[in-house]
Amino acid sequence: MSKVEFEKRGAIGVIFVDYPPVNALGQAVRQGLVEALDQGLADPEVSALVLACRGRTFIAGADITEFGKPPEPPLLGDAILRYEESPKAIVAALFGTALGGGLEVALGCHYRVASAGTKLGLPEVKLGILPGAGGTQRLPRLIGFEKALDMIVSGDPIGVDDAKKLGLVDEIVTGDLVDGAVRFAAKIATVRPLPRARDVAHHLEQAKTNPGFFDKATKDARAKSRGARAPLRCIEAVRLALEVPFEEALLRERALMREARESVESKAMRHVFFAERAAAKIPDVPEGSETLAIKKAAVLGAGTMGGGIAMVFANAGIPVVLVDREAAFVEKGLDIVKKNYAGTVKKGKLSQAEMDARVGRITGTTDWDGLADVDLVIEAVFEEMALKKEIFGKLDKICKPTAILATNTSTLDVNAIARSTSRPSQVIGLHFFSPANVMRLLEVVRGKETSKTVVATSMKLAKQLGKVGVLVGVCYGFVGNRMLHKYYREANFLIQEGALPEQLDRVMTGFGFAMGPCATSDLAGIDVGWRIRKEQPKPPAGERYMGAVPDRLAEMGRYGQKTNAGFYKYEAGSRTPVPDPEVTAIIEQVSKELGIERRAVTDDEILERCMFAMINEGAKILDEGIALRASDVDTVWINGYGFPTHRGGPMFYADTVGAAKVLERILQFQKEFGGVWEPSALLQRLAKEGKSFAGVDAERAS
Ligand code: CAA
Repeated sequence: MSKVEFEKRGAIGVIFVDYPPVNALGQAVRQGLVEALDQGLADPEVSALVLACRGRTFIAGADITEFGKPPEPPLLGDAILRYEESPKAIVAALFGTALGGGLEVALGCHYRVASAGTKLGLPEVKLGILPGAGGTQRLPRLIGFEKALDMIVSGDPIGVDDAKKLGLVDEIVTGDLVDGAVRFAAKIATVRPLPRARDVAHHLEQAKTNPGFFDKATKDARAKSRGARAPLRCIEAVRLALEVPFEEALLRERALMREARESVESKAMRHVFFAERAAAKIPDVPEGSETLAIKKAAVLGAGTMGGGIAMVFANAGIPVVLVDREAAFVEKGLDIVKKNYAGTVKKGKLSQAEMDARVGRITGTTDWDGLADVDLVIEAVFEEMALKKEIFGKLDKICKPTAILATNTSTLDVNAIARSTSRPSQVIGLHFFSPANVMRLLEVVRGKETSKTVVATSMKLAKQLGKVGVLVGVCYGFVGNRMLHKYYREANFLIQEGALPEQLDRVMTGFGFAMGPCATSDLAGIDVGWRIRKEQPKPPAGERYMGAVPDRLAEMGRYGQKTNAGFYKYEAGSRTPVPDPEVTAIIEQVSKELGIERRAVTDDEILERCMFAMINEGAKILDEGIALRASDVDTVWINGYGFPTHRGGPMFYADTVGAAKVLERILQFQKEFGGVWEPSALLQRLAKEGKSFAGVDAERAS
């Protein structure tokens, strides 16, 4: 069946795009758009046209799966020019998500009407590219340069009410959208000249009086982009409007788009897009598997994590009971939740009424009997196995048989926890990341006996909660923390050998991480790891100990930001890390005690040792089947650990370096630093066979 159809409703021709799931602009759709337009123009009975879509949304953009291939005509920009130049008026009928190339097509139409709830945006920057079909030229002319640049550089969509205020949408249709669009088209069919975004002059004239605006936008984008090039290309493209005529700007925009599309950055971001969607697919638990309804949940432990998790449920409209041992703990937890919400209201990001509704969904109690009717309990107490076993034994007796019993443990054995109940098939790990109401990652930890229904329910729940769920297996630290441990091991060893916190953090933020390892430790609290290490046996003599420097800092009460001193010092009330000569002296002293002669450590060595330690562990995780796919490992790091999206995640990054090169360096490190650098068998195989982690995913999928 054709992907674009033409239909007549009286004197109005309606062009329908019908290409599930999201009406993306693949070659056949572009071709169909041009042909349907020709049909409408050739028909003397047709006085005006409507561009509409079937299915769940207006065109949601270019077909991203075509990006790796040479573009086939008609190019989108050319198809849009045909619409813009049409002698008959064209009305775009928007609903769902009018995104990217979809919004660009709509901008080429003469009018836009939309249903309530429509989202409009140019999210290309999130794929490492720019709107390359005229969006950088038409949108600013139509709605003003400041607002347009904001939309293009952030990639965030706007709602239909804002779009109407800005003049991006001409009318909001209530009732049937296509009927409304046809009525609108009949009304404007004879109005001339046809309004075209390219002809709107006043915003352009105004922008010409303030060219400094672009310098500031560039400076701001550079500060925020963590080394990504796409936001800067977007600004460069919009700026063309001030410098060259419209047609020339379109050609140059297209050239910039082509350059961006070929970049590793864009490949990485497209990989991230598809990786997140692949993570939702579990080979032995196919879509449509049986799931349980989660209508009411409970969280055990009203600390920071517990409170954050309760907020996640309340935000998603699911009533939740927050439980702790003492009434004072429950009260404190609820107070913090309220303060968090109040902060969001103050920033104007949440209405008071919505805050009240969300707070109203969270009840506190010390009485476990309140757990009898919940569909899911998430335990978020201290990381202590004996305590967890006791809690799960108790939950097993109180909760109804169909209830899912989940643990938020970040390290402990989910199978051992499950065995403390009579229903191990109902037990699963739901590992949220702190702050739980902000971080998008949810590691769903599948135990040996977890039922498929519980896995399917948890993955569905992740989506319902607005999280990216990644299914992982049981091992110490699962995927994220197990790799993080290797990263921090190298960071600490590098400090012992000669690097300083500021150099380490500079290198890792230069790579694109939101924060370096030392600043992150200061934020999370150096005392946390110190207390855990104190309970663990010290490594045997002759084996290096990663905790030497942080333990010393913690012993001195330098816990990080909360004590205004850690790897850095902080002005009271400030979160800005300031290098501290006292820390340099402590580090030098520790190196001396360890018998290490400090040396100059290069930036390259820092990056390689931190990244390759992580990658080596990621490869082992993949080999052991703890992660289903290399792309799942990437999804964990992007959504839970501030890994730069434009680098695609650690395993994607490994593919850009090449398995052979990564292995070569790991073998050198093994020679130099010993057993901790044991190379992964999978990595060795890939290096030998000239293959990639992406290839492993493809092999596993076939
Ligand atoms: N191209 C190809 N496939 C796409 C796609 C696109 N633009 N957008 C979504 N899909 C696919 C997804 O991969 C997914 O496939 P599977 O079911 O096989 O996993 C399916 O469509 C459904 O997508 P979601 O699971 O994401 O569905 P959702 O309802 O949660 O979200 C959406 C819908 C908001 C449209 C979301 O898919 C989305 O944000 N898509 C990308 C939009 C985008 O970035 N558009 C700009 C493209 S670039 C461009 O247009 C450049 C240009 O200037 C020409």
